[in-house]
Amino acid sequence: MSVSLHVSRLAKLTGTLQVPGDKSMSHRAVMLAALAQGESFIEGFLPSEDCLATLEAFRACGVGAERVSETQLRIVGSGGQLAPPEREIDCGNSGTTMRLLSGILAGQPFRSRLIGDASLSRRPMGRILRPLQEMGASITAEGEGGCAPLVLEGGKLRPIRYLLPMASAQVKSAVLLAGMQIDGRTTVVEPVATRDHTERMLADFGVPVAREGDEISIDGPVTLSGTHFQVPGDISSAAFWLVAAGALPGSQLQLEKVGLNPTRHGILAVLERMGLEVSVKRLPSAEGGEPLGDLQLVGQGLRGTRVAGAEIPNVIDELPVLAVAGALASGVTEIRDAGELRVKESDRIHCVVENLRKLGAQVEEFEDGLRIEGGRPLRGAVLESFGDHRIAMAFAIAGLFAEGETTIQGAACIETSYPGFAHHLERAKHQTS
Ligand code: S3P
Repeated sequence: MSVSLHVSRLAKLTGTLQVPGDKSMSHRAVMLAALAQGESFIEGFLPSEDCLATLEAFRACGVGAERVSETQLRIVGSGGQLAPPEREIDCGNSGTTMRLLSGILAGQPFRSRLIGDASLSRRPMGRILRPLQEMGASITAEGEGGCAPLVLEGGKLRPIRYLLPMASAQVKSAVLLAGMQIDGRTTVVEPVATRDHTERMLADFGVPVAREGDEISIDGPVTLSGTHFQVPGDISSAAFWLVAAGALPGSQLQLEKVGLNPTRHGILAVLERMGLEVSVKRLPSAEGGEPLGDLQLVGQGLRGTRVAGAEIPNVIDELPVLAVAGALASGVTEIRDAGELRVKESDRIHCVVENLRKLGAQVEEFEDGLRIEGGRPLRGAVLESFGDHRIAMAFAIAGLFAEGETTIQGAACIETSYPGFAHHLERAKHQTS
């Protein structure tokens, strides 16, 4: 069924919102709990399609998981020995599920086949195949050009030292998750720091990961111990409201319990440069959990900025909505060194450029980014999500600033990362006088 979102202009944004749990952490919490010895309890789990695909994948491998509530899970760990799945594993739209799970299954002594939806089946998997094959894994891509479906014959691996050819937390994590199952030291060298949830969470499950400069190492084989993990709100979901509040002068918005991992909170620095006033009230983290806090936002309009270089991995998922921020800001905004955006759930550079132009913005497209002459009045339009949740939400936010109505077609994909987004959008309207 095709779902459309209809959005119209908003005067300002006030009140309080709590965004759902962090997607990256929810995936990893399920994965590590499934491999641990003993029981784990996960709170704040993101009940989105992507994370539920991860949960189902481990259930298919014999892991007992109980949904205590929408956002609470009790998982009985396998002690590191998964059962062969009876069917192929459907990773849906989720690159994190397919890539991290491949690292795990590469070390398990059975055959598995991983499939995904049309978008995931177009995304590059060679980036995980290469290091896993170097470790001795039998893993093949059945799709054209090294894409899914993936077939794994898991078994005995050898440790490697792997220099990541691109800044990717998914590839780093796949190698570490394979490495933790084998004898010896596995090292990943990062060209630029990427999100470190896997490393932090391994420590929460009782296994230290060594970090020296840009090298991350794990000494296997490890035994993870079940734990209690509290997932904070997803800063990538909060990003939509950060941009909306920043661009609407007079807005006063509080976002509660947002994850503030330093490898993820680059969006705050970018928007502060653009003129958003942010006060952070740090909250005590649950034992071993990730940093989090309440954000108090005061909007006073935005001005253009440049986002490039080492800052990119820290804001990679926020770039579509930052491009929208650029269109709403005065002056020029340029995003460069972001070629990775072309291989996300959609070609995010191209899709952002196309939608911004439909709204009347002045945009130039580059192979590795885009340049926006901000401040032009936007006019409502009928836009495509391109099946990409972050494109759908970024342009719903753009619609709050456009003359007339904006329609986002194909909005069902929002369920992959932010169930309740449409409801929050409605609330934003009603909390505003
Ligand atoms: C993620 C890493 C990033 C990000 C994705 C989630 C993760 O992908 O874009 O949404 O959870 O590790 P890459 O590792 O491909 O950059």
